[in-house]
This record gives sequence, C-alpha cells and structure tokens, in this order.
Amino acid sequence: MNKGFIFDLDGVIVDTAKYHYLAWKKIADELKFNFTLEHNEQLKGVSRLRSLDILLEIGGMNKTENERIRLASEKNKFYLELIKNLDSNDLLPRSRSFIIDAKDKGIKIALGSASKNAAYILKKLGIAHLFDARIDGTMVSNAKPDPEVFIKGAELLSLKPSNCLVFEDAQAGIDAAKNAGMKCIGIGSSNILHSADMVVGGLDQISVLEALNILKN
Ligand code: BG6
Ligand code: MG
Repeated sequence: MNKGFIFDLDGVIVDTAKYHYLAWKKIADELKFNFTLEHNEQLKGVSRLRSLDILLEIGGMNKTENERIRLASEKNKFYLELIKNLDSNDLLPRSRSFIIDAKDKGIKIALGSASKNAAYILKKLGIAHLFDARIDGTMVSNAKPDPEVFIKGAELLSLKPSNCLVFEDAQAGIDAAKNAGMKCIGIGSSNILHSADMVVGGLDQISVLEALNILKN
C-alpha cells in the first residue's frame, strides 16, 4: 500500500501537552504574569524558541537573545524533570494499538514532531521501533505551520504528500499539514481546531479504516 500516516507526538500519542504547559507556566510565574490554558493553545505544536517568543508576547515582555536562550533552556529543564518518570502508562488511549493496526494494514508510519526531545520520549514509551521514519525538532529549520516537518516525513517514507494523512492536536500542526498538501485529522475539539478534514477527541474515537477513507476522498 502506498499510504502513510504521520503522527504528531505531544498531545496525539502521549499525554505530554500538560507538562509543556506546566513548564511554561513556571517560567511565566517567575516573570510574574498570568499564563492560562487558553493562552497555551497558541504554543501547542510550535518550536521551543518560538513558544518562548509567543509567551513573552503574552506577558508583554522583551528579552535579550542571551536571556531568551537561558529561559528556553530553563523551561526544558523543568519539562525534563516533569517527564522523567514517563512510561507506557502515559500513552494516550489506543495510540499504540492504532499504530499497530495501521502497520498491519501495510500503512507506513512516521513521526512528525516539533520536539527536540522526541527520540528520548519514544524510547521511554517503548514505541520507537513502530516508526518507519522520524522527523523531529532536531531535523528541521522551520517550525510548524511551515510544512517542512511533514514534507520531510513523506520523503523518508518515499510517499507523495497527497498519500499521507497527518494526526495533529495543534492548530499550527494542522496548518503545517495543509501547507504540505496533506489531509489531516485534528485531535481535540472542533471549537479550537479549524480546517482539519475531521476532528476527533482522540485516536480511540476513529478506526484505521475510517482514517484511510479520509485519505481516499
Ligand atoms: C511540540 C509541542 O510537540 O514540541 C510544543 O506541542 C513544544 O508545546 C514543541 O514547544 C517543542 O518541544 P521541545 O520538547 O523541543 O521543547
Ligand atoms: Mg502536539
């Protein structure tokens, strides 16, 4: 079969989105401004440094380049501390079996994540071997909504973008999939996610065959 599924990591496969939020909130607390879950939607799917810039905009702050690098690395320290005990219990419902079902049907599987921690997280979850290709934040120069991460994923799978279906929980990621010329299933709420071909609450709310149908339409 010449079809591929490209999965975002944080918030699609594993429940780490809450830890990214908590780590950024700690930075906002230190800088003494309010950072809400609603604000956090703007950071989802976005690279670490771009997330920091959005956070500073929300707080109405300017920081020097050195200070930005320090804050981003401090956030990552908090984040790594929060995920140090991550294991397969943190996988989102059905994410592992959904990927296995898709593989059994001959669908190629890639990861398309903005995270520089992706390889470490996949290893902790014990699912690294399920992926035919991995593109993460260490391999791209342009953050979502730029399509680079998904275009490279399709290339590694030797598939045309139109034969790839992306699973994304962030608006920036859905925009990246669309910019790559790919169909996209939004994971979350249709009140928040726009322009996906379908939005479901999680991978436990859709079958592999239903997902494949979206790719065929
Ligand atoms: C994305 C997350 O998957 O990765 C963002 O949705 C995060 O919240 C981004 O900022 C970069 O992650 P990391 O692990 O490289 O800081
Ligand atoms: Mg995500």
